Amino acid sequence: MVIIYASNTGNTEKYAKILQEDLNIPAYPISNVPDVHKGGDAIYLGWVMAGNVVGYKKISKMCNVKCVIAVGMTPESPEMTETTRKNIGAGPETAVFYVQGGYDAKKLKGANKMIMKVVEPTIRKRFEGMSEEEKNENPTYKMLNGGYSVVSEEHLADVLAWAVENGLKGKKA
Ligand SMILES: Cc1cc2nc3c(=O)[nH]c(=O)nc-3n(C[C@H](O)[C@H](O)[C@H](O)COP(=O)(O)O)c2cc1C
Repeated sequence: MVIIYASNTGNTEKYAKILQEDLNIPAYPISNVPDVHKGGDAIYLGWVMAGNVVGYKKISKMCNVKCVIAVGMTPESPEMTETTRKNIGAGPETAVFYVQGGYDAKKLKGANKMIMKVVEPTIRKRFEGMSEEEKNENPTYKMLNGGYSVVSEEHLADVLAWAVENGLKGKKA
């Protein structure tokens, strides 16, 4: 088993590194998968772009993907996990998880920056009518206002439980 990831601004990479530590499995960016791991079992982490998991199509041709962890800016919910599963067309044999990562417009470049300039006002509408206090406590609001990340091991609790169930022994699993 190997961990492969695609990260644009670093949040997904951080989750991959946490998993690497916890499961004692090597992690590689999708652009640099050693030949020895091609065709083998993989845990894949990809950032979410317009509802899709970046790199999933490519990795599913390269490796036997046992588990997908999508990292977006939307808060976690069972609906986000289900939507992600549908959007990527993962079969029932593939475990799918969705976790909240982070967002910082200052770290974006090129097309991604332009797309989010258009999309951000729509996301901001979610906060209309909320008190200042509520807004300032909301991670997604903080992401839009100056950048913020919620990346931490606790968001991977379900993934780690899946790893234990599937016999992936590591430091903590
Ligand atoms: C062009 C673009 C589209 C995005 N689309 C979504 C989306 O559909 N849903 C979501 O939850 N987050 C979306 N995001 C936010 C990223 O998925 C989020 O910032 C993620 O944590 C980035 O991971 P990274 O730091 O590893 O690149 C989008 C970000 C960009 C730049």
